Amino acid sequence: MKIESVQQQDQIEFEYEGRPVRLPLVRGTEDEVAVDIGRLRSETGLITLDPGYGNSGACKSAITFIDGERGILRYRGYPIEQLAEKSSFLEVAWLLLFGELPRRAELDQFAEDVTRHTMLNENFGRFFGALPKDAHPMPVCAAAVGALATFYQDPEDEQKWKDSAIRLLAKMPTIAAYSFKHFQGQPFIYPQNDLDYPSNFLYMMFATPCEEYVVDPVLSRALDLLLILHADHEQNCSTSTVRLVGSSMVNLFAAISSGIKALWGPSHGGANQEVIEMLERIRHEDGSAERFITRAKDKKDTTRLMGFGHRVYKSYDPRATILKRACGEVLGRLGRTNELLDIALKLEEVALSDDYFISRKLYPNVDFYSGVIYQAMGIPVNMFTVLFAMGRLPGWIAQWMEMRRDPDFRIGRPRQLYVGPTERDFVSIEKR
Ligand code: ACO
Repeated sequence: MKIESVQQQDQIEFEYEGRPVRLPLVRGTEDEVAVDIGRLRSETGLITLDPGYGNSGACKSAITFIDGERGILRYRGYPIEQLAEKSSFLEVAWLLLFGELPRRAELDQFAEDVTRHTMLNENFGRFFGALPKDAHPMPVCAAAVGALATFYQDPEDEQKWKDSAIRLLAKMPTIAAYSFKHFQGQPFIYPQNDLDYPSNFLYMMFATPCEEYVVDPVLSRALDLLLILHADHEQNCSTSTVRLVGSSMVNLFAAISSGIKALWGPSHGGANQEVIEMLERIRHEDGSAERFITRAKDKKDTTRLMGFGHRVYKSYDPRATILKRACGEVLGRLGRTNELLDIALKLEEVALSDDYFISRKLYPNVDFYSGVIYQAMGIPVNMFTVLFAMGRLPGWIAQWMEMRRDPDFRIGRPRQLYVGPTERDFVSIEKR
């Protein structure tokens, strides 16, 4: 196989069954190059095989750029470090949805629109009531977001997309808080329109009708930061799910509900819950990071170092860098020490000086430190992944909109390499 000068010819050529095959190369704005295999099957009969999609691009996207080797993450070109320091979650949501940073009037109107749609239809109370008391909040959230489709059934057009996006952003914190209140057996707390986005969620989550609850601005800012860091991450498992489900032209609520379900798994967003449970386990056993690392390396042991490793990042996940610093700051400002943070720091130190992790390029990912902050904020463990979903929401919506507007848009439908039995005759049940 030879790549002809990418700049001049922009095609790749190889020989198959004695015939030359030429496929075009496509270049992204960050100089990444892809082979466009759109004509491969029609010209050769070949398909590609790439389990886990480690080498396959499913779309062109202008939303998020990741360079996993250099630990770079940018939303719409803006470095995550700058957004984390200078922006707010709603501003980032606008950026992801509409492509540019909003002007002041646009942001104010957006915040107003989101604030005005935070209430859930009163019938939702009965919906939550029908679910088991000990239901994990993640499937409750997924079901509730899917159920929004039953309240908003108008045929979709571009204006309706925007309405649905605002409704989702507005109602997700309410749904998340209600999922928790249902689990706790406490009364639902209505949203307060004078509170900003993260404060409103904290209020609905922690307030009760029995006493005054004032949102701590340290917690509110910490939550806003966490939401910003989770807001998009290009074609990960849950986002690809949103795109694939959405490609059948189901409505936005159905596609997002599927994304929430995909996020729940421990290999994806569910890892933040697993990390804190791992740290608790280590503390409970003997506090030895070294012993745990030995188990995580042992192929006969199913233990993994949760919050470590990533399909794309082969160096430090930039979000983990920001969160590691934020852990110290948040705990300091809350005047708390945290034994679990000490164990996490020790685990990282041991892992990053161990050849197993070095040679496989396994570094802390976003989930390694997020749980420590959530826990310091008083967020219960089973809500960690729900907060991830709240943060990821604008990214999922932006990716869904981009897909639907894409001139190359088609239903997603991978092929397969069949390896089952070849044709054989049916055997009647008496003769089997
Ligand atoms: N602990 C121990 N070994 C690991 C870990 C880990 N956390 N992660 C990867 N490895 C090892 C694998 O055993 C494999 O070793 P081998 O080459 O000897 O077989 C090698 O590193 C490559 O790992 P894969 O599983 O093939 O990598 P993949 O890209 O498929 O998986 C994943 C990435 C799922 C994130 C994996 O690293 C993992 O399970 N990490 C722990 C769970 C986690 O933190 N998930 C959150 C990811 S970030 C997010 O979704 C928000």
